[in-house]
Amino acid sequence: MCGIVGYIGELDAKEILVKGLEKLEYRGYDSAGIALGNEVGLTVVKEKGRVADLRSAVDWTIHSTTGIGHTRWATHGVPNQTNAHPHQSTSNRFSLVHNGVIENYQQLQKEHLHDVQMNSDTDTEVIVQLVEKFTKGGMKTEIAFRHTLSLLQGSYAIAMLDADETDVIFIAKNKSPLLVGIGEHFNVVASDAMAMLQVTDQYVELHDKEVVILRKEAIEISTLDGVIIERTPYTAELDMSDIEKGTYPHFMLKEIEEQSGVVRKIIQKYEDEHGELTIDTDVLTAINEADRLYIIAAGTSYHAGLIGKHYFEKIAGIPVEVHISSEFGYNMPLLSDKPLFIFITQSGETADSRQVLVKIKALGYPSVTITNSPGSTLSREADHTLLLHAGPEIAVASTKAYTAQVAVLAIVAYVAAKERGETVVIDLKRELAIAANAIQTLVDSKAEMKQIAHEFLAVSRNAFLIGRNLDYYVSLEGALKVKEISYIQAEGFAGGELKHGTIALIEEGTPVFALVTQKTVSLNIRGNVKEVVARGANPCIISMEGLEEEGDCLVLPKVHALLTPLAAVIPMQLISYYAALYRGCDVDKPRNLAKSVTVE
Ligand code: F6R
Repeated sequence: MCGIVGYIGELDAKEILVKGLEKLEYRGYDSAGIALGNEVGLTVVKEKGRVADLRSAVDWTIHSTTGIGHTRWATHGVPNQTNAHPHQSTSNRFSLVHNGVIENYQQLQKEHLHDVQMNSDTDTEVIVQLVEKFTKGGMKTEIAFRHTLSLLQGSYAIAMLDADETDVIFIAKNKSPLLVGIGEHFNVVASDAMAMLQVTDQYVELHDKEVVILRKEAIEISTLDGVIIERTPYTAELDMSDIEKGTYPHFMLKEIEEQSGVVRKIIQKYEDEHGELTIDTDVLTAINEADRLYIIAAGTSYHAGLIGKHYFEKIAGIPVEVHISSEFGYNMPLLSDKPLFIFITQSGETADSRQVLVKIKALGYPSVTITNSPGSTLSREADHTLLLHAGPEIAVASTKAYTAQVAVLAIVAYVAAKERGETVVIDLKRELAIAANAIQTLVDSKAEMKQIAHEFLAVSRNAFLIGRNLDYYVSLEGALKVKEISYIQAEGFAGGELKHGTIALIEEGTPVFALVTQKTVSLNIRGNVKEVVARGANPCIISMEGLEEEGDCLVLPKVHALLTPLAAVIPMQLISYYAALYRGCDVDKPRNLAKSVTVE
């Protein structure tokens, strides 16, 4: 959600900044802009729309070796050129980019800036105007910057240029991710290492309430009150090929196709030297000491959490509650005596989940983050981390992170069950390998999903997905995929629940996808299909080998009953993908969305 880049060095900054923004664009794509500094002062270019629009607007003749850039997902103020970052102070001396939300911006405006004409509707402009105000009052820029930061409430990652001092980038971070990258005769700043991987793989993480004075040859990190901090850099373990589309038309298709490999990699990563599945012993101890697990997550990760509950309860006999993070923090249920909180998050930066982590930490409860992003905020701040090893997920719609979450949750539940001496009936390693093969088979038959998308969703106004037991959870995830990238109103339902109201929405031709992978309820769900067919629905039954009947749309290769979500979600991802293509939607960057939701 919003991306920041900055460069200070010897090379021309423009191309590095614009390329960096292109890498970050999946995080926000309402508008984009850069500010370039040289001996003449600052030049700001910003455009509504995509980074490609910015690229066309940039004057490529300007020479500058210092600059900052931003790609935006609007929070305060509509997406237009005026509200795009960088924001400038009235005299144009300062230019600033910001991720996050300043909660007290109206109050600050009233108290300090009543005589300043604001140009935009954003909370961000207040920051840059405050810096100018304080410098006009006699403070040096760094002091004014620090003083401004001390007044801000909320979240921020900030990079700022001063036209009178273009050999410095002023940087600050609180609750929004930001990193400093180190090079030879240059340094960079970015909200995600992948933006600047083009120039360096050496990064220093920043912590909340830290300030950085970044120069070509020096990085000075300090606390808000000026205490200098030394921190060792780390090597970003990202491969350029991980963040490029290669020959794929879309990241989403690439990521869907990577899923069998991801499951295999997870098996490998969670194996000990004897080939047995294992997890960090501290996590195991934390699980075994808890009387109840609380899974906290949002969106797709929440859907994976529902499956995780099934695994912990059915495989390991551990009671679990699953909660939507944005609800939990503000409406906390009665907790058990010894809860353990498990945060599931692809990005590790979701603000809704983080606010829960902050609250439960304050209450003294232990936590584990299951994430795809090592070094992310939720990973750093939880007591323990388990990684998904899915590789960077760039498409806004989550696919491979979901299958990775399901696979890792299965492993954690399985290892915990063994540790607790439960009778475990599944050979998980073997069954995960079978599931990986099933995923591959499904991906290889994507032409069938394309055909189904054409037949059922190319022109539909709405769609329903139904399932029972684990299939119900997959139908929630499948419906989310359909909604977010093809904009069809799609709802996932427990098959038996539809008749309690929602069946009123079934009309002649309404597409209903029914998942039939659970033997114990296969007759029940087929009964539910008959109910909707009797009311005119156009059914597409996706069943599992062994449970198929004549007339089913698609038969999934057989996988273990506990792992059916790994197979059943694949056709729904592919059907959504092709439906979006048929409807002319921007698959990787759906409207109104952004990857990594860093505001509450
Ligand atoms: C949907 C999707 C979102 C995320 C949600 C949580 O495809 O990607 O629903 O799952 O925003 O994000 P993370 O997992 O990063 O916490």
